[in-house]
Parts: sequence; structure tokens; C-alpha cells
Amino acid sequence: MWASGQGRDALALGELGYRVIGVDHSSVGINQLNQEAKKRGLNVQGIVGDMHDYQITEDIDIVLLDSMLHFYKNDQKKETEFVNKILNQLKENGLFVTCILKGDKRESILKQIIDQSPYEWTVLSECYTEYIEFNATYHLLVVKKGKRIK
Ligand SMILES: C[S@@+](CC[C@H](N)C(=O)[O-])C[C@H]1O[C@@H](n2cnc3c(N)ncnc32)[C@H](O)[C@@H]1O
Repeated sequence: MWASGQGRDALALGELGYRVIGVDHSSVGINQLNQEAKKRGLNVQGIVGDMHDYQITEDIDIVLLDSMLHFYKNDQKKETEFVNKILNQLKENGLFVTCILKGDKRESILKQIIDQSPYEWTVLSECYTEYIEFNATYHLLVVKKGKRIK
């Protein structure tokens, strides 16, 4: 889980029985995550670091980026490279899960990056969730990596 923050998703996934690695450059957030995981006895490990430097190893089945990609003009190149790195490093049959703010432009940029990847990707789930308290709607996309086709 990249950019896990204080563990909103990581702890919930840990409660479901997943082994979770959360990487975030905020030591405050990661300390809170690790304390809470320990208190609840979860298999959740927070690591302080820059997610751009973290390698996706073979034991990672799912990469989750929640509220992390925005594709604002100034960040678009870096974020595109970052997503491409994840798509390349993720193992075959691994899942790439993104949750981004609803928006035609950013959703189409994300889909374009996935479509242009040299691997086959199958959409397993796609939906929108409205959060009335934040006055925001989020787009969830789950894709599964297949064989290299290009
Ligand atoms: C909007 S929060 C999302 C947190 C979490 N994914 C969630 O949904 O609750 C963005 C997080 O990204 C982290 N972050 C931003 N850039 C980062 C980077 N280069 N490496 C690691 N973490 C980063 C911030 O510290 C922050 O915790």
C-alpha cells in the first residue's frame, strides 16, 4: 500500500486478514499506523520512505494507491512514470488498485497509462462512491496483470 498515511486502508485490510506493507514519507503517520497495528495484533507493517524508491517484490500480490494520484499538470510526468514502474514491477496475476477523485481527465489519463502498458490488463472492478461528508466522489479501479503482449 503506497502512501498509506496513518493507515485508514492498511488497518482495515489488516483486519480482513491481509498482510499489509504501508509506505509513507510521514513518520508521524507511520508511527500511528504501527502503534495501532501492534495494539490490534495485525500483520501490518508501516515503513517510512518515499514510495518512488520502493521496489515491488514477488511476494506482493496487490498494490493499492488510495487518494494518491491526481495527475495535476505539474505532477503528471512523475505520476505517469510512477504508475508505469508499478505496472512493470508487479508480478503476473497481481492486482493494481487505484482510488482517485472522480474526473474525466484524470480517469482517462490513468486508463491510457494502463492501456499503453505492454501487459494485458483485465478490469476486475470499477465503481464510484460518493462521500457526502467530503462532498466528493471517488473512482475505484481494480485491474489484474496478465501476460506481456507488446
Ligand atoms: C491524501 S493522503 C492518502 C493517505 C491514504 N492513502 C488514505 O487514503 O487514507 C496522501 C498521503 O501520501 C503521502 N505521500 C505523498 N507523497 C509521498 C511520497 N513521495 N512517498 C510516500 N508517501 C507520500 C502523504 O504523506 C500522505 O500520507
